[in-house]
Amino acid sequence: MRLTAKAIFNKKKKKEKITVLTAYDYPSARILDAAGMDVVLVGDSLGMVVLGYETTLPVTMRDMLHHTKAVSRAVTRALVVGDMPFGSYDRPDQALRNARRFLKEAGADAVKLEGGERVREQVALLVQSGIPVMGHLGMTPQSVGSLGGYRVQGKQKREADQILKEALLLEKLGVFAIVLECVPAMLAARITRRLKCPTIGIGAGKGTDGQVLVLHDMLGIAGKVHPRFVRRYANLEKEIRRAAEKYRKEVLSGSFPSKEESF
Ligand code: KIV
Repeated sequence: MRLTAKAIFNKKKKKEKITVLTAYDYPSARILDAAGMDVVLVGDSLGMVVLGYETTLPVTMRDMLHHTKAVSRAVTRALVVGDMPFGSYDRPDQALRNARRFLKEAGADAVKLEGGERVREQVALLVQSGIPVMGHLGMTPQSVGSLGGYRVQGKQKREADQILKEALLLEKLGVFAIVLECVPAMLAARITRRLKCPTIGIGAGKGTDGQVLVLHDMLGIAGKVHPRFVRRYANLEKEIRRAAEKYRKEVLSGSFPSKEESF
């Protein structure tokens, strides 16, 4: 049985930290599930780290469903959250239709969408329709244009108050958790103290109820300059390159395949 959104929500009461990583395919999802992750997020970050786009904006429902299906086939214990892509939840009816597709067609347990007041009707309708929703505030990459780039949000008091207000609104609407991305640690901790629902931080310090990282960043295969909040737990780029170069050398020299590796 997979963890439920309710079980994730209840972890805050039990003072248990929530662990979240992104995955976009069957093998990585299988490994993260076996490693005991609470939530596997099929983030629209896949547009940047898997599909090679500059931003998450070109990611489509088709892309998201395709990758979410692969992740769902692998995960037996974690909660699978599908990230609603840019343009898929502009109106409440459209949000409901697309969110249902994540659950019915792709095997996700919940969906995530970005924003607060702007998406209040969408969140209300999904929750009323029985779809668990994860919120996302602070640096919301689908609004990178209007936020003036990938910048820390909530440094000014007015901005910080607005993020807190939107977090309280999302909680009232019934989200089971809220991602806080790139906000000052003090603000994230303050929001976390005010909410009953858990906060999941990324670049938001240690005062949140859980943490999320993009898998390719923490494994060192994102190929780009790493934001300061990313801790690299492996340097797989180096490992993969070393293996590929060794293989190439051995094919060129004729030492692969050996007799034992042949029929
Ligand atoms: O798309 C994503 O991977 C995300 C996380 C960074 C929270 O939204």
